[in-house]
Amino acid sequence: MPDRNRYLLEESRMPRQWYNIVADLPAPPAPPLHPGTGQPIGPDDLAPLFPKAIIAQEVSTERWIDIPEPVCEVFRMWRPSPLFRARRLEKLLGTPAKIYFKYEGVSPAGSHKPNSAVPQAWYNAQEGVKKLSTETGAGQWGSSLAFAGGLFGLDVTVYQVRVSYDQKPYRRAMMETWGAKCLPSPSDTTEAGRAALAKNPDFMGSLGLAISEAVEVAAKNEDTKYALGSVLNHVLLHQTIVGQEAILQMEMTGDDPDVIVGCTGGGSNFAGIAFPFIGQQLRGEHGKRRFVAVEPAACPSLTRGKFAYDFGDTSHLTPLVNMHTLGSTFTPPGFHAGGLRYHGMAPMISHVAELGLIEAQAYHQKACFEAGVMFARTEGIVPAPEATHAIKGAIEEALRCKREGKAETILFCLSGHGHLDMAAYQAYFDGKLIDQDYDEKELAMALSLLPQVA
Ligand SMILES: Cc1ncc(COP(=O)(O)O)c(C=O)c1O
Repeated sequence: MPDRNRYLLEESRMPRQWYNIVADLPAPPAPPLHPGTGQPIGPDDLAPLFPKAIIAQEVSTERWIDIPEPVCEVFRMWRPSPLFRARRLEKLLGTPAKIYFKYEGVSPAGSHKPNSAVPQAWYNAQEGVKKLSTETGAGQWGSSLAFAGGLFGLDVTVYQVRVSYDQKPYRRAMMETWGAKCLPSPSDTTEAGRAALAKNPDFMGSLGLAISEAVEVAAKNEDTKYALGSVLNHVLLHQTIVGQEAILQMEMTGDDPDVIVGCTGGGSNFAGIAFPFIGQQLRGEHGKRRFVAVEPAACPSLTRGKFAYDFGDTSHLTPLVNMHTLGSTFTPPGFHAGGLRYHGMAPMISHVAELGLIEAQAYHQKACFEAGVMFARTEGIVPAPEATHAIKGAIEEALRCKREGKAETILFCLSGHGHLDMAAYQAYFDGKLIDQDYDEKELAMALSLLPQVA
């Protein structure tokens, strides 16, 4: 038998339920608070922004939540996604470790993001919503919602962070191909955008500001709801189909992962691969494994942020959530992994980090691109800049195994391909990529402005 590289699940084995980690945690995370009253928010506070079904998922404590059949039908366009063994990378590294990766770049938009865009669009359409507004960094989420919204007849407007809008022009073309409108953020179409432009007409934008613009549009227009591509519980929930498939595929390999690695922007991709495995551990069905979240050193919310209540956006339109944060006014440098340029971390990821269930590491972009190029030259797939962080994390684990002479099994999520991010690779090859450090003074200032919560 030749060595096996790909592990494919039959369509009929695609999971039909999402996994909700809250059901298995020893303690629930702290609730989101109303910024005015300081009291936990209720469903009514969220109703202007989200459809009822999504709000119910946001606060659900059920362990398993059914995936509606029309959503499964769309998922079957690319799911189950493949699991690969990275034998050539293992050989190049000379490691005794086995490296597996779950590849989410096979989706129409090229990343894990449609796993939440499709159900979010479907639930909105079911409740009669006609328009959606959203933000996007690198454009993976915006294009995913454009794709999903188009399938269910919704008008989608995407606010794309200016620096990424300029760096990745073809993402906008992709969104337009699927029928959505894409505006650079800051834009002159919202109060939040106009205020930012008045302060600095050349402002490169941030995910926090783009969220403010998209939330403002939904809050002011009866016919528009808001969709978020990460951070919130329901988005993390939708991504758990990734880890559940990976559990079945790892069983096919005969190996069992010792370490599971994922990159973290708002945290949805990491939750997707990790939570179902953490659930096995919490329910006592499996011994302890290591879970490693990898973030950019230029925007290190998990490794350098404060665990505190903060706003999810720059203009303070969102509820206060308890998370690892660099401060909602913090603007990360304009590095190329635009999807990781967020000041906070999902409250649920922050909570499991505080419970000691996961570890976090931060790397600079040049080291990540170097890892991404090594991966492309061995395994063939050109990774998204965000996903190179997971590759870097997995390579570091494989090199540790080599030093320690341990034949561990490493699983990481390759969250997307980088076909529309080639300008970043070009900058790397031209020696133009720099490792930007965040401004310590700005971080201290942003943290000093954290809201006071009694
Ligand atoms: C390919 C890819 N991976 C990872 C991320 C990070 O987002 P999250 O932490 O929500 O998964 C993004 C965000 O845009 C992305 O495009």
